[in-house]
Amino acid sequence: MLFWRVKPLDQILQTAEKKSLKRQLGAFQLTMLGIGAIIGTGIFVLTAEAAQKAGPGMMVSFVIAGFVCAVAALCYAELAAMVPVSGSAYTYSYAVLGEFIAWLVGWALILEYAVAASAVCVGWSKYAVGLFKHSLGIEIPATLANGWSDGGYINIPAVLIGLFVTLLLVRGTKESATFNAVLVVIKVVALTAFIILAVPAINDANFHPFAPLGTTGIIGAAASIFFAFVGFDAVSTAAEETKNPQRNIPIALIGSLLICTVFYLLVAAGAIGSFGANPVFAADGSVLSPGSAELTARCTVLAASGTQPLVCSGEALAHVLRSTGHSTVGNLLGLAAFLALPSVILTMIFGQTRIFFVMSRDGLLPNALSKVHPKYNTPHVVTMMTGLGVMIGAAFLPVGKLADISNSGTLFAFLVVSVAVMMLRRSDPDRPRPFKTPFVWIVGPLSAIGCIVLFFYLPTTAKLVFPIWGGIGLIFYYLYGYRKSYMRPGNVAPDGNG
Ligand code: ALA
Repeated sequence: MLFWRVKPLDQILQTAEKKSLKRQLGAFQLTMLGIGAIIGTGIFVLTAEAAQKAGPGMMVSFVIAGFVCAVAALCYAELAAMVPVSGSAYTYSYAVLGEFIAWLVGWALILEYAVAASAVCVGWSKYAVGLFKHSLGIEIPATLANGWSDGGYINIPAVLIGLFVTLLLVRGTKESATFNAVLVVIKVVALTAFIILAVPAINDANFHPFAPLGTTGIIGAAASIFFAFVGFDAVSTAAEETKNPQRNIPIALIGSLLICTVFYLLVAAGAIGSFGANPVFAADGSVLSPGSAELTARCTVLAASGTQPLVCSGEALAHVLRSTGHSTVGNLLGLAAFLALPSVILTMIFGQTRIFFVMSRDGLLPNALSKVHPKYNTPHVVTMMTGLGVMIGAAFLPVGKLADISNSGTLFAFLVVSVAVMMLRRSDPDRPRPFKTPFVWIVGPLSAIGCIVLFFYLPTTAKLVFPIWGGIGLIFYYLYGYRKSYMRPGNVAPDGNG
């Protein structure tokens, strides 16, 4: 029952050929898509939350999260090159573990992509508010720039950016990919400027005490900052729109992850060493959770006395520069984040729509969702639906919570991919593999274990949301997907696929 309705790989490849999107992305554009998805709210905003959990030890958290993503990327690359069709982890699990698990993965990917897009909308709003304040002297009221569970009513800037990106995606991939490449360059220049200014100013004393909250703090921060690396897998969701996917997908997956990891380690070292990244404790010495009302209250008290530690800032990197005598560059970095974070939102919504598109092509979601726009050649219905969901999340929830919830879904998807790559080596050893995961019997288990460990170190809310979300998904599956699936004997796709 668990591993039923396995969809043969050859059939998947055939279906994709019949009802496909236009192949227009090359290795460069695809790597840009990867970097565009990776560098975002994680490094620009959540560095502050990681510091609250781990202090300077967050350097190690970045290494742990980067390592888990690297081993998972190696597993993704094998499957993505072998099955270069849209749908990413969802498609691979359909071929290896069957429809039931595939549905769960597709459902978990909604958390990964759509909720991540909401998180980045909220992260962007922090920089938007900062930019208006520091560069234009305009204060956007906190109640209109924070969700109700974050001390406000509704996050209007976050909703507006979600809307903007959705409309852009409805217009078309090609324009969006070019726009994305420009924004990636802006982000990379901003991080490079940060590194050039912060790294030479490193003061060793700022690294002590290195792990004020111990190993638990460091792994907990790794589970959250994992968000900063997520996105490389969005590359594989664009497989059907890629020229020569067997070569270009592994290059883009691994290349984009490597480039970002180097940047992150240098940025983290610069932030800690030049400014300090110690957690803020309550007056009685107890630990305060990032994003909690108590921490906000404590930060307000500290601000009144003229101190604003890293962990109190919504614009972590701009704040470090402004506080270390580089106000102008700090403001420019803020402007860069303002201009470029939308590329992450774009990639996340793009990835989400492609997954919905493939699920509907398989009959698990209504066929209307896979309608392609006659003029723009984009799946416009599903794009607008996704955009609406993203805007609702962004309107009301805080960035850290959204990121942790997104991580829970992502870790599940990565876990399934790591298991699938090993299972397929056993069940279909002769199928041509243009890219083979090196040392798969070491890399696969390391990836699977890494995902499980990080999942258990997520905050309790995120750990709870995942099974609840999965339960809702199962109800949907049995009410709709189970009966309508084109893998069910007797069901035929309208165009003969399935
Ligand atoms: N890695 C992406 C970010 O940090 C999701 O915004």
